[in-house]
Amino acid sequence: MADTRGDCPDPSATADLAAAMQAVLPALAEFARYRDGCAGAALTGWKGVLQEPLPRHGAGPDAVLALLRDVLIPNGLRTGAPGFCGWVTTAPTTVPAVAAFSAGIAGPARMLLQPFNLLEDLALSWLKELLGVPPTYQGLFVSGGAIANLIGLGAARQWAYERHGLDPAESGVVGLPEPRIYTSTEVHRVVHRAAAVLGLGRRAVVEVPVDADYRLDVGALRELLRWDRAAGRTPIAVVATAGTVNTGAVDPIAALVELCREEGLWLHVDGAYGLPAVLDPETAPLFAGVAAADSLVVDPHKWLATPVGCGAVFVRDRDLQLRAFRLNPADYLDEAGDDERGRQLQGLGLQFHHLGLEQTAPARGVTVWALLKEIGAEGVRARVRRHNAFARRLAARVRASPVLELLAPVTLSICCFRYVPPELHGPTADQALLNQLNRQVLRLVQGRGRCMPSGTVLRGAFAIRACYINPRTAAADVDALAEEVERCGALVWERMQGRIDAQEAQMDAQ
Ligand SMILES: Cc1ncc(COP(=O)(O)O)c(C=O)c1O
Repeated sequence: MADTRGDCPDPSATADLAAAMQAVLPALAEFARYRDGCAGAALTGWKGVLQEPLPRHGAGPDAVLALLRDVLIPNGLRTGAPGFCGWVTTAPTTVPAVAAFSAGIAGPARMLLQPFNLLEDLALSWLKELLGVPPTYQGLFVSGGAIANLIGLGAARQWAYERHGLDPAESGVVGLPEPRIYTSTEVHRVVHRAAAVLGLGRRAVVEVPVDADYRLDVGALRELLRWDRAAGRTPIAVVATAGTVNTGAVDPIAALVELCREEGLWLHVDGAYGLPAVLDPETAPLFAGVAAADSLVVDPHKWLATPVGCGAVFVRDRDLQLRAFRLNPADYLDEAGDDERGRQLQGLGLQFHHLGLEQTAPARGVTVWALLKEIGAEGVRARVRRHNAFARRLAARVRASPVLELLAPVTLSICCFRYVPPELHGPTADQALLNQLNRQVLRLVQGRGRCMPSGTVLRGAFAIRACYINPRTAAADVDALAEEVERCGALVWERMQGRIDAQEAQMDAQ
């Protein structure tokens, strides 16, 4: 590897960047073609190559680049393969990925007066406009939905305690008897952890039952609030999920806005996955009232397919957020003077480090900016509409099949279903057997690598779950999933009945 500066004492700092990129680029480009589907080329072997003791002397740049090219990249995680529809994740599209790489080199932190830092702010403004978040809300990029929810709930905690003349950021979480946060049973578990970290405790999260469509039951919530107040507890916030991770259900936001106003509660909306569906005219009405929420979360690394590590949170009151999260003054954070150099140091005066948990953090806005600049608001809308339509398409296939059963209504881009052999039709069928069968069907489908759904359990029934946020997925991949589940279902069912052994089933499915 050529050295770009002979007098540098640290050779790792001078390895030629273009040559290093050229060494791995063909492997990366090949990986991103996903010719091997979801499963990948080789699943064994690489562990033994990588698991070694700490090297006492370095192997040099060429050795590392060769490992990247030959071992890491080809065995990487194929969340971008067209058939991949598991969990709520995908691989970045090309331009945001290149933007993230560029930021790592040329804009490695969101500080000082430089374009990557400007884009941190601009991308938050664009996101607000795109998703209908009021322009006055303070935005912040964070590592993902888990931290974004933590920040939103930190603001909620600050607000609720301040209403009683308390300051939890200064004095700790004392003074309010049994603070409570209400949310549905379908909430993402990062909310419980946020409550734990914020000193409220996991038990502060009260899970309200859902209706038949997996949406928070507002009547049940009213009842719980009455109970808890009578018992001397302190309701502080409601978390509505706009796109649950299990089924894509959207809680009744407008009704919750009204209830929170009546009850004096903070409304936090977790739209980590689903908020972009506000762009689809067919699903937009579900989001009515969302602009009245006190804090909102969206994960650009989900439906917007930026590189992983990009969530966003919006809070109604910037000063409140500052009180909750500011860094104490410190000499080493010297706010520079008003001369030209000082202005350069002060940068844009954005002070993101006072609004969340991170001090040094990567520039994340550039990836959102790159995506929105590349495809525009209409490009995102088209993607969301396509994915929502994919889930409905799959649901239609499921309904039309004699051996598939839909397990939840399709709201956004998630479809949950299972394989049901003719012998197990009807209300008296053995549910435990159906669950066992479908767990195995899922494993077989995943192992074959054409499609990669994930699984979940809905009202006791194990479901095969497809979540369409992957920009590379086409209608044929959606149809392929229904076919895969039908075919693998038949094979696993035969095997379970002892008609063929496991190895044969695997081979027959090929
Ligand atoms: C609704 C919801 N909230 C929060 C999260 C957590 O987000 P992250 O994995 O980016 O931390 C997810 C992840 O799937 C989610 O679907």
